[in-house]
Amino acid sequence: MSWNPSSWRDFPIKQQPTYKDIDKLKKVEEELRTYPPLIFAGEARELKEKLSKVAKGEAFLLQGGDCAESFANFNAANIRNLFKVLLQMNMVLMYSFRKPIVKIGRIAGQYAKPRSSDYEEIDGIKLPSYRGDIVNDIDFTPEAREAKPEKLLEAYYKSAATLNLIRAFARGGFASLDKVHKWNLDFVKDKDLGEKFEELATKITDSLKFMEACGIDIKHTPQLNQTTLYTSHEALLLNYEEALTRKDSFSGDWYDGSAHFLWIGDRTRDVDGAHVEFFRGIKNPIGVKVGPSMKKDELLELIDRLNPENEPGRLTLIVRMGADKISKLFPPLLRAVKEEGKNVIWSSDPMHGNTYKTDSGLKTRDFEKILSEVKQFFQIHKSEGTYAGGIHLEMTGSNVTECTGSISSYITHEGLKSRYHTQCDPRLNADQALELSFMIAKSLKDI
Ligand code: PEP
Ligand code: CO
Repeated sequence: MSWNPSSWRDFPIKQQPTYKDIDKLKKVEEELRTYPPLIFAGEARELKEKLSKVAKGEAFLLQGGDCAESFANFNAANIRNLFKVLLQMNMVLMYSFRKPIVKIGRIAGQYAKPRSSDYEEIDGIKLPSYRGDIVNDIDFTPEAREAKPEKLLEAYYKSAATLNLIRAFARGGFASLDKVHKWNLDFVKDKDLGEKFEELATKITDSLKFMEACGIDIKHTPQLNQTTLYTSHEALLLNYEEALTRKDSFSGDWYDGSAHFLWIGDRTRDVDGAHVEFFRGIKNPIGVKVGPSMKKDELLELIDRLNPENEPGRLTLIVRMGADKISKLFPPLLRAVKEEGKNVIWSSDPMHGNTYKTDSGLKTRDFEKILSEVKQFFQIHKSEGTYAGGIHLEMTGSNVTECTGSISSYITHEGLKSRYHTQCDPRLNADQALELSFMIAKSLKDI
């Protein structure tokens, strides 16, 4: 079957906005087509190579960031704080697993959201749902909820500036291991958790001093003074993704230049749908969400369609069943994939199957359920003799109150209201994300 960046247009598609001004939309798409890609194909290949190590059990994947990035919260502090927590989690996991950690942010393009309903109704007024800042605005007014083509351009520019800062942090000294004590965020520092991280940081600086004594110069050792944070988002708006897809002049292959890694959401993963059609032709490493409705045969078909060469590192299956369902629904899928000898990465998204609304109408998730789903994910892999390759989290470096529980920032239903800032789903705050990493590290030792 032939493929080109627009062949998805002949397939049924879900979760797309309706634009009133089609001419304007076409103009915006044309303009995007002339813009430089945000990433270089060689970087996507390098990520795939690193992910192939994850598939083989030699490395671990840490993917995390906002549910939905927002234009209003686009600033250096938010980017820096997320970067810091990811670096901290990286250290905790790497120190405990003794394996390289591949870091991918839900960042620099995570602007489009699938919704369970096309419309939202409040007090008898019905308006189109908010679909992320790349599409419309969150305020509940007809003007705000209209899909505006020019927002595609704003998303591109904001992604470019975000990625620029990430690259600067990663390469410019911020991520150097001799700065490990500086990554503790102010609001984490004084707590037990902050102290626990300080202890780990001290062990790392001691090791560095030892290495320096052996003659290793940290300033000239990229493995010690630099890092890489790759970018990812749900490739939901295929017109945007198509416009940034380019043929790589080195390999002659097509790469989606909007991010290093793209995934298909649980609502748009139909085997014969437009999203699967688009994804099968791009060479970036990709992911698919695997939710409770996934059937065995459907999953095997998806794997064949998306990774026909069975390449390790190409395909990550992101399992999001919910803490109460994973033990029943996941093992049969895992066994089927194992029996067919398919090379995939299994990653756990313990967020999306554990969302509920409080009496006051706020969407939340309990830390205990999140931890429970991750633990079960690891247990199941242990008993099936397969490798739990990664975690996929909705999290932020800010001190928000969106998920309940955890020891470090014990948040009650009542407490959610104080700093509930998410544009979409509830995120772990920095304390909770760091605490979760310590708990994963500890429970893996117990398994
Ligand atoms: C998401 O990752 O934000 C999301 C919408 O997930 P899912 O497709 O698994 O529901
Ligand atoms: Co979400």
